Amino acid sequence: MKLLGIDCSCDDTSVAIVEFDNLYDWRILGDVRIGQESISTMHGGVIPEVSSRLHLKNIQTAFDQAMQQANVSINDIDGFCATFAPGLLSSLVIGYNFAFTLSKITSKPFVPCHHIESHLLVAVNAYIWPFIAIIVSGGHSIMLLCKAFGDYEIICESLDDAIGEVFDKVARAMGLGFPGGPYIEQLAKQSNSNQLLTLPCRNQLRWSFSGLKTQCLRMIGNESNEDICMALQNTIVASMKEKMRLCIEKTGVNRFLMCGGVASNMFLRESLKEFNVQYPAKNLCVDNGVMIAVSGFYHLFHKTSMVNKLCDVGGRLSLTEFIKNFK
Ligand code: KG4
Ligand code: ZN
Repeated sequence: MKLLGIDCSCDDTSVAIVEFDNLYDWRILGDVRIGQESISTMHGGVIPEVSSRLHLKNIQTAFDQAMQQANVSINDIDGFCATFAPGLLSSLVIGYNFAFTLSKITSKPFVPCHHIESHLLVAVNAYIWPFIAIIVSGGHSIMLLCKAFGDYEIICESLDDAIGEVFDKVARAMGLGFPGGPYIEQLAKQSNSNQLLTLPCRNQLRWSFSGLKTQCLRMIGNESNEDICMALQNTIVASMKEKMRLCIEKTGVNRFLMCGGVASNMFLRESLKEFNVQYPAKNLCVDNGVMIAVSGFYHLFHKTSMVNKLCDVGGRLSLTEFIKNFK
């Protein structure tokens, strides 16, 4: 079975075609991402209206290129999948309507996908369940106990800023590019600082990163940017380790899967080696169309009610709210 996946949840127009033998055995045939980094850097972040127009401009090109890479025609595709939430409404509708229209034209299934579930499903294999998913992106910092497909329980989440957001906002204040994570990671390599900032919500299974963000912002100008970036990464690692230990204590589960854009940070990965953590390939950590096709395949395989469902696009629909509705 070949599925097409589209993600337009933020500032990347991503289209992929994936061929599936079964849930854990699949190949990427085409994978295209048209980013908006230079425009977002110019604005210091993502402006929804601007991003939406760029998605509209780029979606056809991304689709054509992905089809060309995969060397397939529209009739070879067995289903069309697109992110419906969470994310920027004006961006999401572009990818959602594109995939929905293709499904109508071809009379093939349409699967609206949840962005966060897709981030985690792209990285699972048959042997990992049950596990703790650590989803760290520009909008989310969550630890979830995942017992089976569709059986997810929030163990820890951020009350305010997400980890990726802290990277982005600190980078912006330093005049670096957007998204900030990769710039912070590079700059931190030039520092040997082992400074640790205040750990968020110590000894509790919840997170808050706005204090850490403020602490970093206040340091700008007083310490070198390199040292601030290193201190930020050190503190995130220390907090991550603390929450991972608490998660193991609470659930008895010690296998982790870390995904989302921040999971592509190599310093983070190297620093967590004492734990049993699995990661997707780096290109599948940041937003991509492959994860949407994979997520769509899970729903088709399990014949959930998401298949051919029309959804309210946009908003902040949490994963736990989402799973209440799809069985
Ligand atoms: O998953 P993602 O591509 O989009 C969202 O769903 O938000 O994650 C984007 C986030 C951004 O905040 C970006 O700064 C962060 O992932 N990120 C990183 C790195 N690469 C991307 N954070 C830290 N280190 C990185 N190397
Ligand atoms: Zn994402």
